[in-house]
Amino acid sequence: MDPENKWPESLPKLPKSLWRETTELPSFPRLAEDHTTEVAIVGGGITGITTAYLLTEAGYKVTLLEGDKLLTGTTGFTTAKITAQHGLIYDTLVKHFGEEQALAYFRSNSEGMEWILQTAEKLGLSCGIRREDAYLYSPLGDDKTLKSLTEEFEAYRKLGLPGEWVDYVSLPMQVGGAIKLPGQARFHPLEYLKGLLQKVLDKGGIVYEHTVIAEKVESDGGLTLFTERGEHRIKCRHAVSASHFPFYDGGHLYFSRLHAERSYALAFEPETDYEGGMYLSAGGPKRSLRAVEWEGKRLIIAGGENHKTGQSKCTFGHFENLEVFAGELLGIRSIPFRWSAQDLVTVDQVPYIGQMSDDKEIYVATGFAKWGMTSGTLAARLIADHIMRRRNPYTELYDPSRFKANPGIRNFLAQNLNVAKELVEGKVEFTRRKLEELHPGEGAVVRHDGKRVGAYKDPEGGLHLVDRTCTHMGCECEWNESERSWDCPCHGSRYSYDGEVLEGPAVEPLAKVEP
Ligand SMILES: Cc1cc2nc3c(=O)[nH]c(=O)nc-3n(C[C@H](O)[C@H](O)[C@H](O)COP(=O)(O)OP(=O)(O)OC[C@H]3O[C@@H](n4cnc5c(N)ncnc54)[C@H](O)[C@@H]3O)c2cc1C
Ligand code: FES
Repeated sequence: MDPENKWPESLPKLPKSLWRETTELPSFPRLAEDHTTEVAIVGGGITGITTAYLLTEAGYKVTLLEGDKLLTGTTGFTTAKITAQHGLIYDTLVKHFGEEQALAYFRSNSEGMEWILQTAEKLGLSCGIRREDAYLYSPLGDDKTLKSLTEEFEAYRKLGLPGEWVDYVSLPMQVGGAIKLPGQARFHPLEYLKGLLQKVLDKGGIVYEHTVIAEKVESDGGLTLFTERGEHRIKCRHAVSASHFPFYDGGHLYFSRLHAERSYALAFEPETDYEGGMYLSAGGPKRSLRAVEWEGKRLIIAGGENHKTGQSKCTFGHFENLEVFAGELLGIRSIPFRWSAQDLVTVDQVPYIGQMSDDKEIYVATGFAKWGMTSGTLAARLIADHIMRRRNPYTELYDPSRFKANPGIRNFLAQNLNVAKELVEGKVEFTRRKLEELHPGEGAVVRHDGKRVGAYKDPEGGLHLVDRTCTHMGCECEWNESERSWDCPCHGSRYSYDGEVLEGPAVEPLAKVEP
């Protein structure tokens, strides 16, 4: 990626996350030989690090394997609200999973939240953790959303959740109504996870960075994982896929049961007071607010603008929309940070967490639908319980092999029809643009030698050409101008402008084209 200091003032800045810019993390070596451990955890985000913490505390020999640097995945780019209020979810869960499982969803996430709060206190972590009430609101005049919110509140009542209906919120905004869930929390996720990581190391946990794990797994008594090009083997008794998109599929076709959704965030200094609280709009366009302390100031993180990865016409436009929202609501003095990232969503909105199949000691945790602070934590607790052969009350709810009839089938069909549409449209897309028309800092699909190719002209005028055909299943990637990446509209793989894999399911880079 272009280092920020080479980036000309005239071009919009590359996104930067507040969390990553304000945390110094230790570095770890690449795995350079065969390795044996008891538990191999693939992926160093909140799920992987929390699982490593729980298992090293319990005396297990643990190795954490990260393909890039720790916390450079979605956890490094979250908005880090810690809450069991996950948008309009409980009414849907009651209808499709029943009251018992809907309540289990609330309890498991609330317990995840309390565990984070207790662990931060127990370890004395200065990670800005504090309680805040969470609000799910419907803007005044949006009757459709108000109806959905009323139904959601009915589900809260049925389940006995501690939510309260309010007609006002402490924002300069009129609402049709809001559900207040008291005693939720927010924190600095990377400072918190840095604390957990230190404990992992203190207990003898081993960490490797820049070590991508291949999809192949051999099982012969124990398990053998392989590094990307098969150079090194990792022998272990248990393996945990905490790699966001599962590094191992095992015939479970996760790509057909998950989709990737990007969203955007700005951390801005407001002109007016913000009385506290964490807010989320119940309908569209999605808007999320929370405060954060930074250099003695209070910033507000405004988030939202969801779209399927690779399916946006202009990604700068999403930052602009958030800026307009934040400016109209609270006024903006400055915007020190802005960033975007993606999370995975399952077909029934409930994450896939647990043992992949009964005969292998391979566990998966994915599909947190932008609620991975609690879900990643409960996933770590559930998986650690399984490995320790302890009963966990939420095993059935999160069973990764489940297939709920409705809305699972409906969403499964919609998701895969969308993939088919993107696959076809990408192949027949027309472009008149020529390579020589590109400006520095610009990327686009251009005609070159009679073919359509993906092109990016860097600020110094260097050309980077790729065949946009995604190496996962052949869809055509789209240019993401704010991240300077090629994003696949089918299952969310992302590549740098010169074709290196940034996010899976793809594992192979895009083919390069000679300029
Ligand atoms: C904009 C945005 C805002 C959000 N806000 C909130 C919020 O307010 N509250 C909330 O609860 N949740 C929120 N979320 C969701 C939450 O951030 C994620 O669900 C969570 O961080 C996912 O954590 P993870 O550990 O599963 O994955 P990641 O953090 O992505 O970690 C996975 C790691 O695995 C590595 N990896 C991948 N493949 C391999 C491989 N083959 N070999 C080795 N390593 C590999 C990656 O490099 C990565 O570091 C938000 C998400 C987004 C996108
Ligand atoms: S991610 Fe599946 S085709 Fe690109």
